[in-house]
Amino acid sequence: MDVRLQKLIASTGLSSRRKAELLIASGRVSVNGKVVTELGTKVDPGRDHVKVDGKHLTSAQPFVYLLLHKPKNVMSTLDDPGGRPTVKDFLRGVSVRVFPVGRLDFDSEGLMLLTNNGDLSQALLHPRYHVPKTYLIKVKGVLTDEEIKKLERGVKLEDGMTSPAHVKKVRKVEANSWLEITIREGRKHQVKRMLETVGHLVIKLMRIRMGPLSLGNLEPGEFRFLTDREANALRELVDERMASVERGEESIPKPKRPIRKEGWAKPERGKKLSGKKVKAV
Ligand code: URA
Repeated sequence: MDVRLQKLIASTGLSSRRKAELLIASGRVSVNGKVVTELGTKVDPGRDHVKVDGKHLTSAQPFVYLLLHKPKNVMSTLDDPGGRPTVKDFLRGVSVRVFPVGRLDFDSEGLMLLTNNGDLSQALLHPRYHVPKTYLIKVKGVLTDEEIKKLERGVKLEDGMTSPAHVKKVRKVEANSWLEITIREGRKHQVKRMLETVGHLVIKLMRIRMGPLSLGNLEPGEFRFLTDREANALRELVDERMASVERGEESIPKPKRPIRKEGWAKPERGKKLSGKKVKAV
């Protein structure tokens, strides 16, 4: 089956589709010995010999991307000298050595990306690239609008001011409340420390989104492979951020939606909070 040349290159994990287009346009790709600069060129992966910079495409390392729902009370590392359970215990049947991209606290749960693509992992973790991460949290008490605004503007932690955040009210439960908070940094215990500055203890914390990835309905301990679309979206996001930093446009992109809607928003459909289905309020 014929596929577009840029799609074939991207599918090997060598680059994003956009970067593959640049490789083609700049004359670095050949098909059956002839340099091809036409972006729409179709090739048959089973028959045509595609080379990038003179190297056969099939020699590119296949990258693996996994999304795991880290359960609570599990280390987000691959091993633990203290013998506590780690994310590795949940990757049965995965023969490729993958590494966690970032950390979640032992008592936190939720979305963890694991990959053997070291460059992508480094770029996603680099504070300059601002990949947004969204946490669903249960906090003690109910935040006032003023406290929410403070968190959104940035609060002073012992390691400096936090960048602007996005806070969405989800639900009140008796004396406590659920919120979604989106931050673009990844400092240690950041969300817990941010909430502490406005006087609220975080009781539960679940990462539900990271860049273009969503936890969806994965149960704690379950994992799945990313779809090609998700992996490409990640690679493109990193490429875009790196290019924008190189162009000197280093800034936090403005959110497309207004920072915060007034009132209590509906939680994500079907999302369980503390084991119960949440009723929209
Ligand atoms: N912020 C925290 O405080 N803990 C986490 O695990 C992740 C973000």
